[in-house]
Amino acid sequence: MSNLTVRSPNIDVAAMDMPLRWLGGDAFRTQVFNALSLSFPIGERYFIDAVRAALPLIGDAELAEDVRRFIGQEATHSHLHRVFNARLADQGLRNRVEPAAARRIRATEGFRLTSKLAVSAAYEHFTAAFGDIVLRHSDWLDGASAPTRALWMWHAVEECEHRSVIFDVYRAAGGGYWRRIGWFLYVTLVFALDVAVQTVDGLYRSGDAFKAATWRQGLRFLFGRSGVAARTIPAWLDYFRPGFSPRDRGDKEALRRWLEENRAWFERTA
Ligand SMILES: [Fe+2]
Ligand SMILES: [Fe+2]
Repeated sequence: MSNLTVRSPNIDVAAMDMPLRWLGGDAFRTQVFNALSLSFPIGERYFIDAVRAALPLIGDAELAEDVRRFIGQEATHSHLHRVFNARLADQGLRNRVEPAAARRIRATEGFRLTSKLAVSAAYEHFTAAFGDIVLRHSDWLDGASAPTRALWMWHAVEECEHRSVIFDVYRAAGGGYWRRIGWFLYVTLVFALDVAVQTVDGLYRSGDAFKAATWRQGLRFLFGRSGVAARTIPAWLDYFRPGFSPRDRGDKEALRRWLEENRAWFERTA
């Protein structure tokens, strides 16, 4: 029996309150989150394609069921983030990550399946680490409207839930340590670069790029005590352990509590 649930939250992303600086007026943090959202649909498509191609190699019935539910969760994330990204397009933002990622995907089309799974597992480590952070510390989403916060928290929760699926498929497909680490280093560079370029572009288009306050927010968000570096470096280093397993990470109790307290977002309205 798989422990994963494919949910469809009743968040009206197309109509929810979402000003230009929707994270409480913090332009920098808003554009970083926007950059993540703009990168999700093409990334999630890539992960789905990689695990779907690996399905015939999976002997374990439970893992195969996990993969099917993983696909359901990621497809729902993509769907809602596309609506979110359409709101960003209405605000004048351009998606720069997607065409760049599409070019990279085309260039690596002929690569081995284990390499594609290693790339996907690396991204999934980052999304799960992000999920852990927002579940433990609510401050990164401070200032978001209730539905916007729910959208990001729901995605974060499911990234934590399915954190080990691609990793397990990678192992089942015969993937080893050095391939995993090589592609992790590649993904670290590409992901950081994509988010940086998209963030700066978003700041430029939102009219915030040339304000000193924006860059003060940026320094605090990236390098402050509760910032990106301080909160992600431990998870980043952990991936290098030969015995690393995504299952050892995360706070299952915080995850359960969030779902319990936010049941209303998942109750279907007729
Ligand atoms: Fe996702
Ligand atoms: Fe995921």
